[in-house]
Amino acid sequence: MILLSIIGARPQFIKAATVSREIAKHNNINEIIVHTGQHFDTNMSEIFFDQMQIPEPDYNLGVNSLNHGAMTGRMIERIEQVLIDEKPDWVLVYGDTNSTIAGALAAKKLHIKVAHVEAGLRSFNMKMPEEVNRILTDRISDILFCPTGLAVKNLQNEGIEKYSLARIIKSGDVMQDAAMFYSDFAQKPDFKIPEKFILSTIHRAENTDNEKRLASIIDALNEISEAIPVILPIHPRTRKIIKKSNINVEFKMIDPVGYLQMIYFLKKCSLVMTDSGGLQKEAFFFHKPCVTLRDETEWVELVENGFNVIVGSNSYEIYTAYKKMINKNPNYNINLYGKGKASEKIILELLEN
Ligand code: UD1
Ligand code: UDP
Repeated sequence: MILLSIIGARPQFIKAATVSREIAKHNNINEIIVHTGQHFDTNMSEIFFDQMQIPEPDYNLGVNSLNHGAMTGRMIERIEQVLIDEKPDWVLVYGDTNSTIAGALAAKKLHIKVAHVEAGLRSFNMKMPEEVNRILTDRISDILFCPTGLAVKNLQNEGIEKYSLARIIKSGDVMQDAAMFYSDFAQKPDFKIPEKFILSTIHRAENTDNEKRLASIIDALNEISEAIPVILPIHPRTRKIIKKSNINVEFKMIDPVGYLQMIYFLKKCSLVMTDSGGLQKEAFFFHKPCVTLRDETEWVELVENGFNVIVGSNSYEIYTAYKKMINKNPNYNINLYGKGKASEKIILELLEN
């Protein structure tokens, strides 16, 4: 079987690492890796391939730093040519980025089967580019690998079974697989980290593209950092906007880090404050409470079980949530995302179809 995996952004490299490892166990699968080029800085791309031993991409399409239409359009055009040349049996797409929808659309128009890993997630906020990408990718995929029961329910509520022959499979979450596998390989940073600290990331367009929201979040983190150090590995998008808007930052910002260092931070921190999707789950995997700097989340089960609170961007609300969550120690003994076997399930399922 020829399986063509499309990856392009940081969280996809992490997901693909676990699935590629599983694929490697089957000598009847030939995986062709296509990197769209969406992320391209060393610390946003290469470091993941090196650290996680992801096979070298067979293609790098070099598409990045464009508006959504231009980026997605150019990716579709270049992926289409690769698909015509390689004629894969399946195209595997991950998550909800522009690389995801571009891969799915290019494949579907050529009548090549599409499998979507991380299907069925919804924020119900159609202003998020990711929400548009997810819904459209789910609509045209042939197998929908859902990380949770709620993701399955979301698809059923949309009536997907009425208009699509797609198979819906609850696979568990490949991010759980990654966290369990790489946990033992956590890597210390090359600076001394405080005994207690907050780990933060900010990169969602709804925060970075709105100066008022971004300034308000940074304001809250500045205030919190007077009580406990804050470490924020900063996405290049956020760095650019902070600089351009002259926002005053009083805590430690560092360049983006590799996944193994991120795991080290996750293990050592006291609290996670983030607008990242992946990091909300990783906080849970490593038994750390989480404050989510967004107005909604796709990972509702974390909120319902008290592991996570949604606060938006208001400084006062963020500070109040920090106070509430910093000493919280809920019972993490609950299985929300599977037992680290999602990648195995995905590959076995593809082999049967
Ligand atoms: C994308 C995804 C988002 C995901 C995130 C992971 C979409 C619509 N969004 O957002 O869902 O959470 O990836 O990080 O696909 N940049 C660099 N160097 C890089 C990567 C990006 O400088 O290596 C800059 C780009 O030039 C651009 C900005 O960051 O100016 C945004 O990059 P882009 O890929 O459009 O979106 P992300 O914010 O990374
Ligand atoms: N991550 C990382 N280095 C960083 C920031 C994040 O390795 O400097 C990891 C993080 O641990 C998680 C993934 O990248 O596994 C999440 O990616 P991101 O927050 O960019 O995207 P999202 O999950 O929101 O789509």
